[in-house]
Amino acid sequence: MRFTPIVGVVVGLALTVSACGGDDGGDDGGGGTAKQSTEAQLSGRGPITFVSGKDTSGNRQKQVDAWNKDHPNEQARIIELPESADQQREQMIQNAQTKSDAYTILNMDVVWTAEFAANRWLTDLPKSQFDVSAMLPPTVATAQYRDRLYAVPLNADGGLLYYRKDLLDAAGVKEAPKTWDEVWAACDKVTKTSEGKGVSCYAGQFDKYEGLTVNVSEVINGAGGSVVDASGKPTVNTPEAKKGLDVLVQAVKDGRIPKQAITFKEEEGRRYFESGKLLFHRQWPYQYALANKKGTSKVVDKFAVAPLPGVSGPGASTLGGHNLAISAFAKNKATAADFIKFITSEESQRADLLATSQAPPNAALYDDPELVKKFPYLPTLKASILGAKPRPIVVKYGDVTTAIQEETYNAITGKTPSDQALSSLQTKLGQLIQP
Ligand code: GLC
Repeated sequence: MRFTPIVGVVVGLALTVSACGGDDGGDDGGGGTAKQSTEAQLSGRGPITFVSGKDTSGNRQKQVDAWNKDHPNEQARIIELPESADQQREQMIQNAQTKSDAYTILNMDVVWTAEFAANRWLTDLPKSQFDVSAMLPPTVATAQYRDRLYAVPLNADGGLLYYRKDLLDAAGVKEAPKTWDEVWAACDKVTKTSEGKGVSCYAGQFDKYEGLTVNVSEVINGAGGSVVDASGKPTVNTPEAKKGLDVLVQAVKDGRIPKQAITFKEEEGRRYFESGKLLFHRQWPYQYALANKKGTSKVVDKFAVAPLPGVSGPGASTLGGHNLAISAFAKNKATAADFIKFITSEESQRADLLATSQAPPNAALYDDPELVKKFPYLPTLKASILGAKPRPIVVKYGDVTTAIQEETYNAITGKTPSDQALSSLQTKLGQLIQP
């Protein structure tokens, strides 16, 4: 994995970060002292809290119960935050700014690491204690900041194209579409059949929140454009980026993306897909298990999963996922460290995959024949994660994603022409991301 250089860092702050923590690699000139200080930070045993967004896949409490059974004096309690990634981030920041010890373990979106680490809201984790070498490299990279480990991957996440195989079959469409033109052509065929009458064509996450940043970055990358280049410089005002954004603008305009999808986050879209009203859905792996659950889903065994489409060939996912960090202000960090090791172990990841279909960080699980038999999409998912494009790695991530959401939402809803939205986004990003 190529480590994208960090941009937008306030130099003074970054220097303070380097000086205050330390990994155990002995490569920072003060190896011995850094090692002692890092390990000393992981002290204290007793009750902990596990702060996490809404448990959309339903297995988290079971994992915590299993831990609690064996640790009567070090009980973990879940604090559940809202479903939207942006609201989770805000609550975690409020907690950190008041230096509260209420939150022990933070289940962090992969895009928050730079901001939280640079602000010294996280505990620097000794690499000798947390072995992440068996995990997918792009996911591990999101848990690091300036070569130090601040979190341990809990879930990797890659976008997938869920499609109604039964409806494609009925319409004589033999293969999942690889390009947007093929997606729209398949929709036009399916809606002409009696089985597909009245079905909506496509949805993703288009509400004005982090999911929109994910989806817009995907269409832009899938058209040969980019939001920022490999060095972190904004590059969003290009014909390629416009071509990508216009995929969504046009589909909203012509109704292939149904009107209500403009308000969809992951869960609204999932329920719509499970109600049988949607042909194609861009979604994370967690939907696989839930959409195959008898009783609540009408599409059990009727769908399959393919790579995301692009403009002239397959597209690329935005890299998603979650990492577990320990708040800098928490008590009982030794317990927290053990809990993180427990819940990120290969055994726990395997059990979580079986229960929830969420993407594990552990690379070997994707090639396990028993698991591939149960989840045939695993090779597609592994490729999606390994080929995924990161979102901007910046300390001011909150401002960057707000700018992306505001400008592109205006374009998608027809309020601003897409070239104007992208040009204004380029200006905003230029101000926020200083070389
Ligand atoms: C998923 C991804 C996360 C992303 C979020 C957007 O939770 O894992 O990285 O930011 O969706 O809604």
